[in-house]
Amino acid sequence: MQTIKPGTKILADRGLREQLIAGAVSVRENSYSPYSHYKVGAALMGASGRIYTGANFENASYGAGTCAERVALGAALSAGERSFAALCVCAEDESVTPCGICRQALSEFGDIPVICVGADGKTVREYRLGELLPSGFGPANLE
Ligand code: THU
Repeated sequence: MQTIKPGTKILADRGLREQLIAGAVSVRENSYSPYSHYKVGAALMGASGRIYTGANFENASYGAGTCAERVALGAALSAGERSFAALCVCAEDESVTPCGICRQALSEFGDIPVICVGADGKTVREYRLGELLPSGFGPANLE
């Protein structure tokens, strides 16, 4: 299995980048979002090269829902991944970015590149997590 060094390299690798985007676009279809009707899909690539996906799910008790990014993060962590090469988030258009809670949850694992795409998987905006959550609270603060 291919091992990817965490960092920006994946963004330059077209094949992996396309796989990651395709994962987010396709899992978005499974979003359970009858209240907001805002479907989100996320795909997180672990340093192992494996891709973990998640879709947002909502609940009649609104606060019980969870964002796509944290569903994907939970799947990756449960599989034993602890370091990540990149995240892709897909929503109706590429103006989507991870919410504050997801930024915090992800930042525990470093300055991950974030690709935000529209439902067509073609319109793209790119960030780094550190740019979306500057001066975040992390493990170092507890040392
Ligand atoms: N949502 C996500 O899943 N990820 C984001 O980056 C933004 C918001 C979800 C939460 C909720 O189910 C719906 O989108 C509307 O906020």
